[in-house]
Amino acid sequence: MWRAIIFLTTIGAAVSLLAACNAPVADPPTLAGEAVAFGAGAGGARDACFTCHGLKGEGDGPVPALAGLSSGYMLKQLKDYADQWRDDDIMTPIAARLSDADRIVVADYYAGLPPLRKGAAPADGSAASLFIEGDPARALEPCAACHVVGGKDFGIATPILAGQPARYVRDQLLAWKESRRRNDARDVMGGIARKLTPEEIDSLARHIEAMP
Ligand code: HEC
Ligand code: HEC
Repeated sequence: MWRAIIFLTTIGAAVSLLAACNAPVADPPTLAGEAVAFGAGAGGARDACFTCHGLKGEGDGPVPALAGLSSGYMLKQLKDYADQWRDDDIMTPIAARLSDADRIVVADYYAGLPPLRKGAAPADGSAASLFIEGDPARALEPCAACHVVGGKDFGIATPILAGQPARYVRDQLLAWKESRRRNDARDVMGGIARKLTPEEIDSLARHIEAMP
């Protein structure tokens, strides 16, 4: 009898301890998703996400960071690649080979990894003001109206930008400007990118990479 009570109390304490430990952090990465990221999906080792996106989902150069992006946003992108609304020589075939279930678990896995900010103080004042204030003279909305600054932007459809590699951000803004990326339903980003000069795209991209 006592043994049972002590046992139950210990379990109770362990459960509340676990609950207390878990409270402040996001859900831990799922194992099945990690397996897909490391090559267990239908495409096998050649499609292992980590080979390009990095061991911690940190991205580099033309390859975006995935760590800490919302899973809803990533799922949409994987579907858009597969359906060729966002056509890309590398990602379209990889996304098309992933099963629906694998897309869900791998998106959850990367969403659960801590975002890796490169975050020094942004250097370029004009890019910072474009980001925060936009330019009313051109009816250019501030980026910050949709992309939350300093904190997690977990809107299903709007990705967090801070820390994305500058090269990747520049490629995406140019792809919208030239209508090569057409996957955003109301063409919000297309409309915005067409108002930006190539110089502004360059400096916004550097600013975004450095954003904390
Ligand atoms: C051979 C390299 C390579 C591999 C392997 C790879 N990716 Fe990618 N991924 C890229 C590149 C390059 C881009 C950017 C393409 C573009 O410009 O649209 C990208 C873009 C993405 C994006 C869009 C992110 C954003 O911010 O919009 C997602 C999501 C993604 N990849 C998920 C995955 C997943 C999941 C896997 C594994 C199943 C994977 N990738 C495997 C190279 C790769
Ligand atoms: C009205 C809302 C809105 C505004 C304002 C806005 N964005 Fe976006 N942005 C979005 C949405 C929604 C997406 C995702 C589109 C999709 O589904 O692919 C996006 C995607 C992006 C991406 C792609 C990120 C990735 O991981 O692939 C970049 C880069 C970006 N925006 C930069 C900017 C910049 C720079 C500005 C300001 C000049 C800006 N955005 C203003 C809504 C907005």
